[in-house]
Amino acid sequence: MFGGKKIGFIGAGNMAEALIRGLLKAKLLNPEEILASDVREERLAYLQDTYAIKTFTDNCLVVADSEIVVLAVKPQIMSKVLDGLIDVIDESKTLISIAAGITTAFIAGKFPSQVRVVRVMPNLPVVVLEGASAIAAGDHATRDDLEIAKKVFRAVGRVVTVEEDAMDAVTGLSGSGPAYIFLIIEALSDAGVKVGLSRDVAQLLAAQTVLGAAKMVMETKEHPGRLKDMVTSPGGTAIAGLHTLEQGGLRTTLINAVESATHRSKKLGQQ
Ligand SMILES: NC(=O)c1ccc[n+]([C@@H]2O[C@H](COP(=O)([O-])OP(=O)(O)OC[C@H]3O[C@@H](n4cnc5c(N)ncnc54)[C@H](OP(=O)(O)O)[C@@H]3O)[C@@H](O)[C@H]2O)c1
Repeated sequence: MFGGKKIGFIGAGNMAEALIRGLLKAKLLNPEEILASDVREERLAYLQDTYAIKTFTDNCLVVADSEIVVLAVKPQIMSKVLDGLIDVIDESKTLISIAAGITTAFIAGKFPSQVRVVRVMPNLPVVVLEGASAIAAGDHATRDDLEIAKKVFRAVGRVVTVEEDAMDAVTGLSGSGPAYIFLIIEALSDAGVKVGLSRDVAQLLAAQTVLGAAKMVMETKEHPGRLKDMVTSPGGTAIAGLHTLEQGGLRTTLINAVESATHRSKKLGQQ
């Protein structure tokens, strides 16, 4: 699916594992076409045992043998990791970085040649193959590089393409969004317990309601306001609940939350 190209992961943590699982499940690559490196040997042994991929403790060996390189280490150590790859990265590789807040210009600036970098902001549900990822092309990235990145991240969920300056907004919405929704599910489940349901039943109903409502938005492509109107009968229960949510300022609170997270992402990026 990638024209015989191999994909190498630098940093074999949660995100890398989710992508490896997705790529294998979607049959986009065979295990022998996937390589990964990490500083933790036990992590590599686990990935080798579980997915039959090739693993290395030396990042350079992975890069040297891969045409597509996914940079999946924490942002704080990215600079040091890139310094160690100076001799093996050039313009023949497609680089895909998922590190929050690290720009394509920063990565490209580490290398003397015009390296091709695509930046991706995925979110945690990639681990259940339901991620929301935004991708942005760096200066020298080609249409093919973007297509490769799209294919990789479609294996673990949905993908949108944005300009790189929208990445802070993406971080504020979908990057941080799973935390907001977990809180909402927890609160709904508390509410179920308050009105007399058992915790197990309340949590299942709360989570499945969020999942089902999201699926309806995706599948019907209707405006969520219209879908809301469909479950809101005159003088009924839903409108009573919605009235209380509006009184509590849920809509404004969510808008403020996304805005604060976006500002925070911008600030962290500047640091
Ligand atoms: N998790 C999310 O929801 C999320 C969402 C969007 C973007 N991201 C981005 O995805 C990237 C990876 O996140 P993650 O959650 O997968 O992190 P993670 O689980 O900590 O994985 C990173 C792995 O890299 C290893 N590592 C440390 N130094 C290394 C080195 N010099 N060379 C090779 N590997 C090294 C780490 O080992 P140690 O643990 O021993 O340091 C760890 O196993 C981050 O940049 C993050 O910003 C994550």
